[in-house]
Parts: sequence; structure tokens; C-alpha cells
Amino acid sequence: MPPNFDQEPLLLTPFKLRSVTLPNRMVLSPMQMYKAKDGLPTDWHVQHLAKFAVGGFGCVFTEALCVDAAGRNTYGDMGVWSDDFVPALRKIAELLRSCGAVPAAQLHHCGPKSARQRPWEGYGPLGAADAERGDPAWQPLAPSDNAKAVGWHRPKKMTESDIAQVVEQFAAGARRCARAGFDMLEVHAAHGYLIHSFLSPLGNELGGRYGGSLENRMRFALEIAEAVRANWPEEKPLSFRLSCVDDSGNDSEGWQMKDTLVLARELKKRGVDIIDCSSGGIGLPPTARIVARSPMFQVPYAGQIRRECEGIPTMAVGLIRTAQEAESVLARGMADLVAIAREALFDPNWALKAAVELGGIDKFSAVWPPSYGWWLYRRARSLALAEQA
Ligand SMILES: Cc1cc2nc3c(=O)[nH]c(=O)nc-3n(C[C@H](O)[C@H](O)[C@H](O)COP(=O)(O)O)c2cc1C
Repeated sequence: MPPNFDQEPLLLTPFKLRSVTLPNRMVLSPMQMYKAKDGLPTDWHVQHLAKFAVGGFGCVFTEALCVDAAGRNTYGDMGVWSDDFVPALRKIAELLRSCGAVPAAQLHHCGPKSARQRPWEGYGPLGAADAERGDPAWQPLAPSDNAKAVGWHRPKKMTESDIAQVVEQFAAGARRCARAGFDMLEVHAAHGYLIHSFLSPLGNELGGRYGGSLENRMRFALEIAEAVRANWPEEKPLSFRLSCVDDSGNDSEGWQMKDTLVLARELKKRGVDIIDCSSGGIGLPPTARIVARSPMFQVPYAGQIRRECEGIPTMAVGLIRTAQEAESVLARGMADLVAIAREALFDPNWALKAAVELGGIDKFSAVWPPSYGWWLYRRARSLALAEQA
């Protein structure tokens, strides 16, 4: 159906969470660049993130910020494990805000997938050759002492004191993100990393209070939610990214949508404002997946949570490619926000272009930064007149 330029596209409508208003519904999804130095962002990160704020995304997430050096995926991960990170993170938050986006940060611990090569170095566990060039492996933490897959590092099975320490690391990460001036915060509890590993019966082999029943497996995530909420300003929103299903090829035994619905309600009780709906990652290699990676394949998870969990807002993500697809997610009531990752790498102006595609060339003046939009509006008008002539 051709867009109706008389009607404001839903993607361009503001969205308020607590006292923070996103100027539109388009979110830059967190994306690790594997280019940090000792956890600190470099000029690469600054220009990378600024492009998306200038490119019209109403909210721009940093990549995952590891709450502990030992919780890094790779030596190139960004961190927030000490106060030393705050000034560099503040620079990013201020830059994003000055470009019109709500600056958002994501807190992370890789757990059993820690100590890994950068994607372009193999994406496998760090080995002898990596140690030789200065990247020695370390022992990951997990709720199990089984390696993720053959050849992967055997993790240390966490004790209650390890668990308490990581909860405190998330709390400290939240305090630092608040000091850096971010306006939204997300806890990464998806993709087979530490928190997801606790949630899923396929990742969690603990006994005692943190393993076994659903209630016990959720305990770590809920303690993190409480600790982060207590250390994050009351007026600012908190998001949780979940793998709504394990999608490991073994789903009758894994984490399922019914578990996600229980968890989402419990998170809401603890002051989580929005669920960012992803999936998968518990197993390696990812070929065990059974849900086809087709366009918008994760959107139904966001829709179901929104429908069945008493009005918890959701963020949809995953192979959402076009403005029309994103608009349809909102029009069908499947989510409140739409997060874009790889399409934005392909086209950092994705959000600005979506505004024009759905709202017509007046959006060059109304939405684009004037330094670009003033020219592009006139260019578009001349082209339209030339076509009519
Ligand atoms: C380069 C890259 C890095 C990523 N890093 C993160 C990350 O730091 N945290 C996270 O939650 N997801 C991460 N993801 C997943 C994306 O946020 C997103 O959920 C996924 O790519 C699906 O969305 P898309 O189809 O729009 O790319 C990453 C994805 C890519 C491509």
C-alpha cells in the first residue's frame, strides 16, 4: 500500500518511558565493534555511534558494556568495570544527546562465552596462537562447569559468593552509566551469555537457590534487575533484553515463551520498563536453530509479551529491514519500539530515510538536520517538478 503522507507515521511519534521521551520509535540496537582498547572506547566508537544519532534514530544504544573484565567476550569489548570508564562514556552520552538521540547504554557479562576471539580472528575460544600475540585466555564464569561446545573453555561453576559479586558488578555498572549521563539503560540477558545461561535449563546446572526450578533459575536475573534499578535514577527507564526462546533445537527442554511471560511480569514488578525481544544463543554452534531467520522473525515474541503481560511495552528487533516493515510492527500493535542493527550498518541514515519514505519530502525539513535537510528538500522538489514537466 502506498504511504499516506497526510497521516503522521507511527515510527515518527514520540514515546515516553518514565521521564524520558524518545523523539521517535526507531532505536539503534546495541552492536559490539570489538575495537575497544582495555575496555575503553576509541575514536572508532565515537564516529560510529554519532552517525546513527545524526542519522535520525530516536535512541542510540552503546554496544554491550562489560561489568567485569573477566566478563568480556573478546579483548576488544567495551567495559564499565571501573570509574575510569566514566569520562569516555560521558563523552559518548553527551555527543549522542547533542545530535538529538536519547543516549542509552547496555550492561553485559558474557559468562560462558567469555575469552573468545574477535569475529574476524575466528570467533572461537582464545587459544595458544592468540596468547602468543598477547591475548591469553582466561577462565569464564557460568552456572555450569561444562564448556559451551567441544574445544571451548571449561567455565568455573559459580558459587553463591561469585553470584553476589556479579550482581554487585551490575549495580556498579548502573551507577557509572548514570554518572556518565545516559538516559536509558538495558541489561543484556539474552544470546546465551551469563544471565541467559542462568535462565535456561540448558545452561544452568546449579543446585541450590539458583538452579533447578524456574523460580530458582530466574533468581539471578531478578536480583540483577533489583540491584540495577536501585542504582539507576528513578526517573530513567530500564530495559531488559531477553532471548524469548532458546531456539537450540532442543526447545521442549529449553527456555520457552511461557517462561519469558513469567519473567517479564516479574521484571515489571521490579521496575523494568520495557522488554527488548530477541532469541537464541544458548547453544553453539548456532546451526542448531530451528526458528527460520526470516524477516521480522522475532516480532511475534514482542507482540505476545505486549498482549499477555498487562501492558509491558516491548521493543522488537531482528531482521527488520525496511521502513514499511518497521511501521507495520507498530501498526499491528506488536511493539512500542523498533530496534535496527545490521540495516543501520548498511545505511546509518536508515531512520532519516524512513521518515521521508513514510512521511514524504516535507520530512526533509521537519526531521532531517537542517544542514542536510534544507538542501535535500529543494533537490527533491526540483526533481518532482522536473518529472511533472
Ligand atoms: C556487529 C554486531 C554486534 C552486536 N552486538 C550486540 C551487543 O553488543 N549486544 C546485544 O544485545 N546484541 C548485539 N548484537 C545483536 C543486535 O543488537 C541485533 O539484535 C541483531 O543483529 C538482530 O537485529 P538486525 O537483524 O537488525 O541486525 C550485535 C549484532 C551485530 C551485527
